[in-house]
Amino acid sequence: MDYQAFVDEQVAEIGEAVGDGTAINALSGGVDSSVVTVLGHRAIGEQLRTFFIDNALMREGEPERVVQAFADMGIPVELVDARAEFLGALKGLTDPEEKRQAITDTFYCGVFARLVRQTGARFLLHGTILTDIEETVAGIKRQHNILAQVGIDPEEAYGYAVLEPLKTLRKDGVREVARVLGLPEEMSERMPFPGPALATRIVGEVNEDRLATVRAATAIVEEELAGTDAFQYMAVLLNDRATGIREGKREFGEIIVLRCIHSVDAREATPVRLPWEKLESICERITQMPGVNRCLYDLTPKPPATIEYV
Ligand code: XMP
Repeated sequence: MDYQAFVDEQVAEIGEAVGDGTAINALSGGVDSSVVTVLGHRAIGEQLRTFFIDNALMREGEPERVVQAFADMGIPVELVDARAEFLGALKGLTDPEEKRQAITDTFYCGVFARLVRQTGARFLLHGTILTDIEETVAGIKRQHNILAQVGIDPEEAYGYAVLEPLKTLRKDGVREVARVLGLPEEMSERMPFPGPALATRIVGEVNEDRLATVRAATAIVEEELAGTDAFQYMAVLLNDRATGIREGKREFGEIIVLRCIHSVDAREATPVRLPWEKLESICERITQMPGVNRCLYDLTPKPPATIEYV
């Protein structure tokens, strides 16, 4: 495939669709939304308003890091603090699909609808990729960004048209486009991170305390595994507890799962055979976290497991 031609085509199409109107897009910092942001800015420049929505579910320092990286490329990104709104919507929810639905609704009906009204935008640029569509249509999972594919007309439901320039590509194709666009390597090669963010790595209720736990575990895992060639690695907080001993006292503590997988395009995955010493050092650091007394390594391929837990 000629990725330069793909870029030219998409830039032209976005320009044509938006005309002299205004478009908005949400940037998470992942390769998909980063590529869409750069394509959009190439196509329509300042007619595209790019927002980073802090949904309280991001990793340590992520909002500031992403805004700065785009500022360095000359693309202004507006930071929106929607933490309370997302946490409110997730309160008390434990069912995975209900959690995803709450995030979708807060994103599209709440925060985004408001931004659309404020900016007068009639177009939303979205980084949906082919894998998201396939898995949603197959009923495996309701990805938070799929609307038209599941019979929702965004124009009718939310008042704007959605443009999805990456919907024919898989992750490997998106990375090729990122390279063609000259994105910095930490963006084009960045590990996938799901739109619903850390909420996909908390089994059970998502709240501030549980987010703090999974966020701290994520920082440890990402630091320890940064040098590996794995497709994706993560920490997951289970909705269960186990007995342990700390400082001579019995403790009914949290359980963190470490997951590290090889994959080409996220459709299938196999666990990485990490060196035993690496597993031990991660386990040691994770179980030094207050209230966490077990760390498990997930050996399950996809299928039958998915990559994320929620
Ligand atoms: P699963 O868990 O379905 O994940 O095996 C496949 C790949 O997709 C990512 N993922 C998502 N990405 N929105 C996204 O943008 C989502 O709702 C979502 N759910 C999963 C996941 O991290 C993996 O790379």
